[in-house]
Amino acid sequence: MDNYTDESSPPATAMSGALKNRPLPRHIAIIMDGNGRWAIQHGLPRVLGHRQGVKALKPIVKECSRLGIEVLTVYAFSTENWSRPLAEVTTLMALLEEFLDSETPELKDQGVRIRTIGHLEQLPKAAQAALARSCAETDGQTKMVLNLALNYGGRDELVRAVNRWLAEQRSKGANHDLDVATVERYLDTAGLPDPDLLIRSSGELRLSNFLLWQMAYSEIYITDVLWPDFTPEELLRAIEVYQQRDRRFGGHS
Ligand code: FPP
Repeated sequence: MDNYTDESSPPATAMSGALKNRPLPRHIAIIMDGNGRWAIQHGLPRVLGHRQGVKALKPIVKECSRLGIEVLTVYAFSTENWSRPLAEVTTLMALLEEFLDSETPELKDQGVRIRTIGHLEQLPKAAQAALARSCAETDGQTKMVLNLALNYGGRDELVRAVNRWLAEQRSKGANHDLDVATVERYLDTAGLPDPDLLIRSSGELRLSNFLLWQMAYSEIYITDVLWPDFTPEELLRAIEVYQQRDRRFGGHS
C-alpha cells in the first residue's frame, strides 16, 4: 500500500518516547468510520456499532488531551447522514445526548472545551440543548478543544459562510471582493488552526465532505482498523507516521 496508510509503521509500543522529539499535530481530525461493519462482524445491530463507537472515542479524547493536542475534531454526523434509516439517526442523536450528559464533567476536569461545527439549527431540539449546556459548561477550558462536527458538510459550511458574508455586505451596502482570510473568518472553524492530520478508520480512501477547505494541506492517515477497535495505541501510530512526513505546503523541504 502507499504511505498514507498504516502499513509501514512500527508497533505503537515502540514509539511513545519518540513522539516527544518531533512536533505534534496541533489539530487532529478524525473520520470515525466502520461502526456498521464492526456491528455486522459481531452479529449485532448497526446501532450497537455506533454505541461501541462512542465508547472508543472517550479514550482517544483523553489521550489527545494528555499528549497536548490543541484541537480534536470528530465527524459525528454529516449532512448526508440524514439519508440513513430514521431509527439509526434517532440512535445517533440519543448517543450524542448521552455522551454529552455523561462526559462533560470529566472533559471539563481534563481542561477540554467542547465546541461544534455544522448546521446545528437542524438538529433535534434536545440535542441542541445538550450541546448548548456542554459548550457553556466547558467554556473557558484551555487545554484542548473537542470540536464535534454535527450535521456538518464541507460544502454546506462554505455555502453558509458565503451567504452570511453576502448578507452582511448587502446590509452595509458594501461591495468588497472575497479573499482567503475573509472566507476563513466566516467558516464554522474560525479561530481554529487547520487540521495537520486527518485520520480515517476502516480503510475507505475518501474525504466524505469533511473540512474540504481546511484540509488543503492536511496529512492523511488511513487505517483498516474499524472505529470501535481504534485505540490510543492506534492514535500514537498515526501520529508517529505523521511525524515522519515531509510537509512542504507546495514549497521545498
Ligand atoms: C460511520 O460508521 C460513523 C458514523 C456515521 C457516525 C459516527 C458516530 C459515532 C462514532 C458516535 C457518535 C459520536 C458522538 C460524539 C456521540 P458507519 O455506520 O458508516 O460504518 P460502516 O461504513 O461500517 O457502515
